[in-house]
Parts: sequence; C-alpha cells; structure tokens
Amino acid sequence: MIALVTGASKGIGRAIADLLEKQGYELLTPSHQELDLASSQSVDTYLAKLSQPIDVLINNAGINPLGELANLTDRNIEETMMVNLVSPLRLIRGVVKGMKASKYGRIVNISSIWSVAAKSGRSVYSISKAGINALTRSLAVELAADNILINAVAPGFTDTELTRKNLSAAEIEQVKGQIPLRRLAQPQEIAELVAFLCSQNNTYITGQTILIDGGFTCQ
Ligand SMILES: NC(=O)c1ccc[n+]([C@@H]2O[C@H](COP(=O)([O-])OP(=O)(O)OC[C@H]3O[C@@H](n4cnc5c(N)ncnc54)[C@H](OP(=O)(O)O)[C@@H]3O)[C@@H](O)[C@H]2O)c1
Repeated sequence: MIALVTGASKGIGRAIADLLEKQGYELLTPSHQELDLASSQSVDTYLAKLSQPIDVLINNAGINPLGELANLTDRNIEETMMVNLVSPLRLIRGVVKGMKASKYGRIVNISSIWSVAAKSGRSVYSISKAGINALTRSLAVELAADNILINAVAPGFTDTELTRKNLSAAEIEQVKGQIPLRRLAQPQEIAELVAFLCSQNNTYITGQTILIDGGFTCQ
C-alpha cells in the first residue's frame, strides 16, 4: 500500500507518517518545496511526476493565519484557501483515477474543530475547514461505487508548532482548563484515528467528519 501524506515535516503530519510507516505502508512525504500547496503549478508538477498509483491520501498540511477579517490581506485569504482547501481537492482529483482503476482507495482530510465552531480571528481558516467537511461529504457519495472511502478528522487543540505559534504558554494553560480532558491532544492520538480510517479495517465509514477534541465541543 502506498500512502501520500502532505505536511509530514512536523506536527500531526509527521505523527501520521511515522505510524503508517510502522504499519508497513510505503510512504510518499513530499517536502514543502517538492509540493507547495500554495501553488497550483507545484501541485500539477508533483502529480505529473507521480510514477505509481496512490492507495491512501492524507491531506494534512494546513495554515492558520490568525486575524480579524479587516486585518487579513488578500494574500492571507487566497493562500489559506489554496493550501487548506483548493490544493487538497486538486490532489484528490489527481489520485482518484488510480484508485478507481484498482477499485480501492482511502482518503483522510485533516479538518479542525473550527470547521464546526467559531473563534474570533479564525474566519478564513474556519471557512476553509468547513469546505473540507463539505468536500468530504460530497466526494464520499461520488466515489463510493469505486470502493473509495473518504473522511475528515477534525482535531481540537493539539500540541504542535502551529498551536505554540498561535497561542502563548499562558493561553495554552488557560485552554487546557476549558477542555474536559484537561490537556491538549498529542499528535500521535490524532494519527491513531487517521490510521484506522485509512486502513483496510475501515470498510463502512465514509463522508464523516470525526471530531477528536477531548470533549471541547461538547460543552
Ligand atoms: N495543531 C492543532 O491544534 C490543530 C488543530 C486542528 C487542526 N489542525 C490541522 O492539522 C493539520 C496539521 O497541523 P499541525 O498543527 O501539525 O501544523 P504544523 O506543525 O504547522 O505543520 C504544518 C505542516 O504543513 C506544511 N505546510 C504548510 N504550508 C504548506 C504549503 N504551502 N505546502 C506544503 N506544505 C505546507 C508544513 O511544512 P513546512 O514545515 O515545511 O512549512 C508542515 O509540514 C493542519 O491542517 C491544521 O489545520 C491542527
């Protein structure tokens, strides 16, 4: 089984790639330079160079430039939509041909709790991730006949560089108090769920957005 994981240099993506490798997948983990999701040309070039069909695609890479809408630039908006939504969609389009031919495919898109909840300063990020949830539902219906299952995993606050960039140490402590499990998720915990959804053991879950947030959005 060949798995393509985007954004595997660190954080959640690296944890997913490490776990899938341990489970015996052959991995493709292009660097940001090899596959720049902010550039449609880079996505085209990467897809054109792919020499083997992909069995598993994990759309993980994402960016989250914080700011109230009035302070976000056009570039912030376009880049967030490209990296988080448009390029994942184009990657899916690029790999499903091979999945259809083999009548097997598993796709997992990394969404966020902010796709279903709101927090000030995250409008464009939320919109991009809500788009991921809608893409996941729509394509689940379209691809089911070819045994291609597609799901989204929506993490809550996870202990990664992205979180530490967007929240101060004091804010992280405050956030922990708001999470029923009283701690951030570890990237490995997100990876375990992704690994199940993209495995052959998942035979009937498709089109879902599964929240993994320590109970945060239950309140
Ligand atoms: N951390 C959280 O609390 C949290 C919560 C909910 C959802 N998420 C989602 O989970 C995913 C991973 O987040 P993370 O916290 O692990 O983030 P992270 O530590 O910042 O890692 C992001 C990854 O995406 C890559 N990336 C960024 N821009 C890219 C681009 N233009 N082209 C290709 N790759 C690019 C980065 O590569 P470089 O390092 O080379 O730039 C890196 O490998 C994202 O989709 C994020 O929205 C995270």
